[in-house]
Amino acid sequence: MPYVTEANLTDLAIERWQQIPDPRLRQVMTAAVKHLHAFVREVEPTPEEWFAAIDWLTRTGQLCTEKRQEFILASDVLGVSMLVDAINNRRATGATPTTVEGPFHVHGSPELANGQNMAEGAPGVPCIVVGTVRGTDGQPIAGALLDVWQTDGEGLYEAQRAVDEPWMRAVYRSAADGSFVIRTVVPIGYTIPMDGTVGELMKRTTISHMRPAHIHFHLQAPGYHPVITHLFRRGDEYIDTDVVFGVKEQLIVDFEEQPPGKAPNGDMIDEPWYLVRYDFVLERKQQAAAAA
Ligand SMILES: [Fe+2]
Repeated sequence: MPYVTEANLTDLAIERWQQIPDPRLRQVMTAAVKHLHAFVREVEPTPEEWFAAIDWLTRTGQLCTEKRQEFILASDVLGVSMLVDAINNRRATGATPTTVEGPFHVHGSPELANGQNMAEGAPGVPCIVVGTVRGTDGQPIAGALLDVWQTDGEGLYEAQRAVDEPWMRAVYRSAADGSFVIRTVVPIGYTIPMDGTVGELMKRTTISHMRPAHIHFHLQAPGYHPVITHLFRRGDEYIDTDVVFGVKEQLIVDFEEQPPGKAPNGDMIDEPWYLVRYDFVLERKQQAAAAA
């Protein structure tokens, strides 16, 4: 092996990290060395700056618990989470696009009948979401599961409330004609957690730390690719600056204000409420396999 110079060090490190039997890990590690060296050559950090970076990473790890994942948040705000999501969910034209799941999903939500209220007792303006679940061929999908979660009308998820019962989440099932009816409240925009290392970094930028109002969905039906996505409120002040890059054009929907009266689920609502219509489109797994 030649002795080290500034000029040959990157090539030596890449060559050394070829010594991995697993071909995928070898590819990952040699690319990591290559790009990390390129980053250091471009930035030319001082020892103090390099230590500051290591200290930031150390403190980011120390903040992580079962309930808090500061590294995922870092990945989200850098756009990396959405890039990984996009690479792994290249769907057919017309299929509902995906977005990141985010940190607030809770497994095992109660199953509610179509039209039932998943926001019982929660603050907020009533909202009814109606639509269908279909395949890319337009055929309705019966019995698709819609796992739904969102903030209440004060911008808080279940994890942020001291509640014992499920809060602002439910599972619905599409009917024989593919239709579903969800009663909830209008979600509102919220800030990412700003009291950790990601917030510390964000405060040194002029980047918005807000997410536009949205409802989360995880759709599943046998034989179809599952879809984890959000519906965003058109006109939201943060719609163009979502801090985690989650907004895709096809996922922006109108929240249409309605006068007090009878809602599509049969409820009499004695205050103004909002109607959202959306048709989800799932791609068959076989289609993807045939196209590959
Ligand atoms: Fe969210």
